[in-house]
Amino acid sequence: MLCSQGVAAPLMLSSLMLHLTWASLNPGCVKVSDILSCSNLGLEQVPKQLPATAATLDFNHNHLVQLEEGSFAGLPHLVTLRLAHNRLSNLSPGTFRNTSGLRHLDLSSNQLHKVDNYYFQELVSMEELLLFNNQIVRVESNALISLINLRKAYLSHNRLTDFPFFSIQEHSHHFLVTLDLSSNRMPKLPLEDIAALPASVQGGVFLHNNSLICECAMYGMFRQWEQKGFLSVKDYREEHTCLVYGEPRASVQFLEHSRFFENCSIKAQGLLGDAENNLHVIAGDPAVLECQTSLRGQHLIYQWVSPHQEYIAPPGNNNAMRMYANGSLEILEARIEDSGVYWCMVLDRLQSRNETWEVNVTVTMRDHVVEPFNTGFTTLLGCVVSLVLVLMYLYLTPCRCWCRKQPPPATPSPANECSAQSSILTPTPPATTEGPGRKAGNHSIVPDVWTTVSSPP
Ligand SMILES: *[C@@H]1O[C@H](CO)[C@@H](O)[C@H](O)[C@H]1NC(C)=O
Ligand SMILES: *[C@@H]1O[C@H](CO)[C@@H](O)[C@H](O)[C@H]1NC(C)=O
Ligand SMILES: *[C@@H]1O[C@H](CO)[C@@H](O)[C@H](O)[C@H]1NC(C)=O
Ligand SMILES: *[C@@H]1O[C@H](CO)[C@@H](O)[C@H](O)[C@H]1NC(C)=O
Ligand SMILES: *[C@@H]1O[C@H](CO)[C@@H](O)[C@H](O)[C@H]1NC(C)=O
Ligand SMILES: *[C@@H]1O[C@H](CO)[C@@H](O)[C@H](O)[C@H]1NC(C)=O
Repeated sequence: MLCSQGVAAPLMLSSLMLHLTWASLNPGCVKVSDILSCSNLGLEQVPKQLPATAATLDFNHNHLVQLEEGSFAGLPHLVTLRLAHNRLSNLSPGTFRNTSGLRHLDLSSNQLHKVDNYYFQELVSMEELLLFNNQIVRVESNALISLINLRKAYLSHNRLTDFPFFSIQEHSHHFLVTLDLSSNRMPKLPLEDIAALPASVQGGVFLHNNSLICECAMYGMFRQWEQKGFLSVKDYREEHTCLVYGEPRASVQFLEHSRFFENCSIKAQGLLGDAENNLHVIAGDPAVLECQTSLRGQHLIYQWVSPHQEYIAPPGNNNAMRMYANGSLEILEARIEDSGVYWCMVLDRLQSRNETWEVNVTVTMRDHVVEPFNTGFTTLLGCVVSLVLVLMYLYLTPCRCWCRKQPPPATPSPANECSAQSSILTPTPPATTEGPGRKAGNHSIVPDVWTTVSSPP
């Protein structure tokens, strides 16, 4: 007893002291269970001692200029860190050491100039990264690479002129659904990199209010996104603007007013749904996908992107696909997995024009395609056999009294008399027609024949 009391007292005392130091060191901070809120206190640096139990730290609206290495280490439960509306212009290496559990980081409305590769490399649990309203001119190509759990990244209202779209891939960012790059300064988009983004990411890329230069390929991409019903285009239709001939004063809302694009080849927009955009192939057969374009000349360069985000250029890929100089892509032996939308990109080197084209390939097993013939054939056979049976019954049965054993109907007629008999035949289609993949024809068509035969005149 004595012993345990002896231990407990100093413990209590030390926690009390910690609490006291806390309050005295950080006047104005409010601690509510696992939340520590120190917002709007004019803080110039993060307090040295932070409560180890904190899951949420709020330092919004302060005057933080610099974060020290390991500022948030020793907080094993830290999940949310709010640093918005401060004066941070860069992050030093190790700022987020030992904070690998962090899932929400708000660095919006600061003065960050760039996003370096090392900034977030420890943050493997990060789900939501807010970087909007800074002065970021560059995101380094590996800056987001270790954020494998990233769901949403907000980079709008910065000064980006490009973005490393190629660093976002299916296997690298499984969960990414929002990538907001709107209100930046991108004059051109790397369309083939964007086309190669996983579909889930593509649907969540926001690019409105950039300084895009009006050109057909760019326009084609957004028209396609519109067709696919992407929210980015639906919700911000009017903010999709581009500069005619790159002239800052000639900004057009290109989804609203598309006159500038009247000379863009409609085909080049690759609107899916046309017959020539859809290709049905039987598994095992070869298929040739043509890259249609209105661009003409000797200087055209073609490139394909497969549904698996694989780049294909002449002469092709690992013996499964061959590509020709004229842009045609040949799948040597189509497999079911080859189904999907193939993008072709044509670039005219001399006039530096781009066009894209899509082909929706559907590969089916051989049986499925052969089915219509089989069904028709067996149905016909079934009808003939049934008809022969009817005729045999009607004309070869020696005694027809079997039918008359039934109570006579109110309005007797020759056809009604035998309807009971005929209906015995109906549910038993001719044995020859039984087989996998042929059911639909038998059951829908054969009974029709019988209804006609047995219905009253
Ligand atoms: C960082 O984490 C490791 C292991 O979890 C721990 O040993 C180390 O003390 C931590 N560093 C700091 C500064 O908290
Ligand atoms: C569009 O972008 C410009 C500059 O990037 C910015 O000043 C402006 O506020 C943005 N407009 C909207 C509606 O966000
Ligand atoms: C489209 O082509 C026509 C005929 O060549 C030309 O008169 C017109 O100015 C062109 N429109 C644009 C927006 O370039
Ligand atoms: C391109 O070349 C291949 C092989 O020479 C040929 O099979 C294909 O039909 C050509 N495509 C076009 C559009 O001319
Ligand atoms: C077409 O795409 C290429 C990238 O392959 C790019 O370098 C070029 O600037 C684009 N041309 C136009 C007119 O946008
Ligand atoms: C491609 O074709 C298949 C089958 O015809 C269809 O189910 C699918 O929706 C099409 N994909 C697109 C993107 O149009």
